Amino acid sequence: MYPRGYNLPMRRWLVGLVASAAVALPAYAAAPEAVQRGEQLFFEHSFGPTASSVPMAVFQALQHQDARFRPEALGERYGLLFKPGRDLPIGFVGAPALGVERLSFNCSLCHTGQAAGKVVPGMANTRLRMQEFEEDLMDALKHDVEVSGTSTYETAQIKLWLLLARRQAEGFKPSPHRAGPGRFDLLQTFKKRLGLPPHGFNAQMDIPALFGARMLKRYPRDGALGGDQDLVRYLIVRLSGDNSPLKGGKVPAWVTDLNAYLASLEPPANPYPVDRVRAAEGHKVFRNTCAPCHGVYEPYELSHPNRIIPQAVVGTDPQRVQVWDAASIAFVRRDPLISQLDLQPGVGLLPPSLRGVWATPPYLHNGSVPTLYDVLSDPGKRPATFRRGPNYDPVKVGLTGDEGFLYDTRIPGNGNMGHPFGVPLSERERLAVVEYLKTL
Ligand code: HEC
Ligand code: HEC
Repeated sequence: MYPRGYNLPMRRWLVGLVASAAVALPAYAAAPEAVQRGEQLFFEHSFGPTASSVPMAVFQALQHQDARFRPEALGERYGLLFKPGRDLPIGFVGAPALGVERLSFNCSLCHTGQAAGKVVPGMANTRLRMQEFEEDLMDALKHDVEVSGTSTYETAQIKLWLLLARRQAEGFKPSPHRAGPGRFDLLQTFKKRLGLPPHGFNAQMDIPALFGARMLKRYPRDGALGGDQDLVRYLIVRLSGDNSPLKGGKVPAWVTDLNAYLASLEPPANPYPVDRVRAAEGHKVFRNTCAPCHGVYEPYELSHPNRIIPQAVVGTDPQRVQVWDAASIAFVRRDPLISQLDLQPGVGLLPPSLRGVWATPPYLHNGSVPTLYDVLSDPGKRPATFRRGPNYDPVKVGLTGDEGFLYDTRIPGNGNMGHPFGVPLSERERLAVVEYLKTL
């Protein structure tokens, strides 16, 4: 539906955006120029490729050689999205390291998705399959890749990279924790960047939408990082997109621009019918029952209590909460930058923002519940398995049908238990709250 316009060889990508964005603005002062610069960072900035990142020439060669990486296969196989005027998939960016153009990934890879057939920034890419992409890449690198650089130096660098990559690929073991589409274990990446040992948990997280950026003050879902907002966001950037080692230093001015952009993100308008009378009824129930945890979503007030709900109270699958343990906190406290934050070991989960929630099934942190109706129903009556496919149920609000990835809640870490807060509602109230949630 979007013109692919994917021409090989790819053009060189602009870098140096950081330098052009060095005007300091107070956080969330959404000056239009700051938002614009933030948008540019969000989509185009490469947060630091290193000598280990895939050389762009290798990726291009694979696209010729291996059907899995053909431009037309990338959308189908890995859920990658495209936008007009951009050759690479959204979130794929190129930047040089050691004199060689490299492929790296940025925020828009996971945090730009589709709703009602349109590409929406800030929306989760619910079809993204980065686990398969990485595994296919590793598999491809076990074989010969025919590639040469634009100079003798570059060719030598690429040949060396291929040699090392092949060794790594031969020792590569796929994760036993299958993500399926729209999920990613970001904390494993965080831990790697911080130099912490890998964890063995199934902490595949349903990629969150970022429409709550104006309300949430603690990140990520377990609320481990709080305090100065620019610093918190900087760490999210460093930990999720930047390959360079995290050592002290100062928060660069462009983080303010990125923050301004994130705060400007609006959820897509719901194209499905809403019963306004029912929604008004649900609104009242929501204010009494749900707002104390999830916050207030009014045209005149958007606020969130930012209170971490203990694991024993929320009762959803425990594996994600266990990832960020006291030992990890003690370890990161040694970093002069991180230690300035208000750090909490994983004790529970922050109630997510519900802005645009109708567009982001499945639900709960691990994506274990297919519809909003099921989230508000008795945990024991939620479906044990469902399909993460393209079919949308506008009544129960969420996934339906028998196409797509089979999600099995019986696998440890994939559990659909907990969040019993809709159980005391009458059926009428439950449906009214679902109606209200369609309007957020
Ligand atoms: C490979 C996918 C991926 C990339 C790339 C990525 N994120 Fe995320 N992001 C996630 C996942 C998954 C989580 C949930 C993490 C958790 O709590 O375990 C998350 C969480 C967040 C959150 C917290 C949201 C919430 O409601 O708690 C913010 C803010 C965020 N990301 C911003 C960014 C920014 C800014 C970038 C670019 C520098 C980025 N992300 C890059 C996948 C990604
Ligand atoms: C005691 C605090 C608390 C109350 C009360 C509460 N929630 Fe939640 N809610 C949470 C937490 C914490 C999560 C995250 C759970 C997880 O991801 O495992 C959550 C998750 C959700 C989600 C999943 C969102 C997503 O994007 O995956 C929805 C929907 C939701 N709540 C709706 C409601 C509604 C509607 C009510 C009122 C009937 C309500 N909640 C009451 C704390 C609460």
